[in-house]
Amino acid sequence: MIEQLADHEAAALAAIEAAATMEELQAAKTAVLGKAAPLSEAQRRLGSLPPEDRKDAGRALNAARKVVEARLDARTTELAEAERAAQLVAERLDLTEVPTDVTVGHAHVVTQAWEELEDVFTGMGYRIAEGPQVETDWHNFDALNIPPGHPARDGFDTIYVDHGKPGSTVLRTHTSPVQIRTMLTEEPPIYVVAPGRVFRADTADATHIPVFHQLEGLVIDEGISLADLAGTIEAFTTAYFGPGFSSRLRPNYFPFTEPSAEFDVQRPDGTWLELGGCGIVHPNVLRAGGVDPERWTGFAFGFGIDRLASLKFGIDDLREMYTNDIRFLHQF
Ligand code: DAH
Repeated sequence: MIEQLADHEAAALAAIEAAATMEELQAAKTAVLGKAAPLSEAQRRLGSLPPEDRKDAGRALNAARKVVEARLDARTTELAEAERAAQLVAERLDLTEVPTDVTVGHAHVVTQAWEELEDVFTGMGYRIAEGPQVETDWHNFDALNIPPGHPARDGFDTIYVDHGKPGSTVLRTHTSPVQIRTMLTEEPPIYVVAPGRVFRADTADATHIPVFHQLEGLVIDEGISLADLAGTIEAFTTAYFGPGFSSRLRPNYFPFTEPSAEFDVQRPDGTWLELGGCGIVHPNVLRAGGVDPERWTGFAFGFGIDRLASLKFGIDDLREMYTNDIRFLHQF
């Protein structure tokens, strides 16, 4: 029996070696260690051996099984590694075929200006505020000290929305209503800027587009004066345009501020750009926002982001920015 065991072991090792896949190895395992395997049969025959032979035969049988099992384990590892390597080769991506001349896009020139402005003002301690583009007539006008019939309403070319009472809903004509919404939801002190899209029934020309963007600023605190406003405009001017630029305020009229001013930016070459409006928040506006004018004062300012971008980059027709000609937009 012991000689036979050596043959069985050799045959089993050969069968394991011959298995070329995990599947074949599984079949070989059943053949060499399963119930019908010669080694298993020998095990069953052990009992019928004469007692004096049984011990040696049992030991030889165990040794043979151990050798076969060890070889099975080793072969399993080998085949698993080989199959993994083959899979890696088969599923490999050929990255050399990715085109190298793809054009990478970038943010629109107005989006860039918008984001840069947010950076400048958050750097100065302001938070970003938001309001709806479809706005109530009250937030857009009344609360800003522009009651029905006020001549300032005519200057806005308002687009009305067919919703609710006739004339009660508008596409906001400026970002100033965000002042009111902020005052109504937050306690002073307030330091916010509200960039956003605004709408006017304007015919597009070089300096007007019916859908454009503004940035509104609002500060409410104790003891705020015109000097704070002027200093803020100056700080913003150099932060956004660069060190060679400066600013000035010119008296003007806006219903929501008193006094009111227009602010201009001076280029390094000495020429002036009109940028936006500003002033000390009118007490009626504070009251509409639920803020006590006896305790708090504030300033506000607003300007067009599209116009700002056009000035910064020397674009002389606002419409150019919205024809979506990639060759044009790619320059900025
Ligand atoms: N809302 C004004 C406009 O669209 C711009 C403006 C002027 C905003 C003066 C202000 C301000 O906050 O104080 O023409």
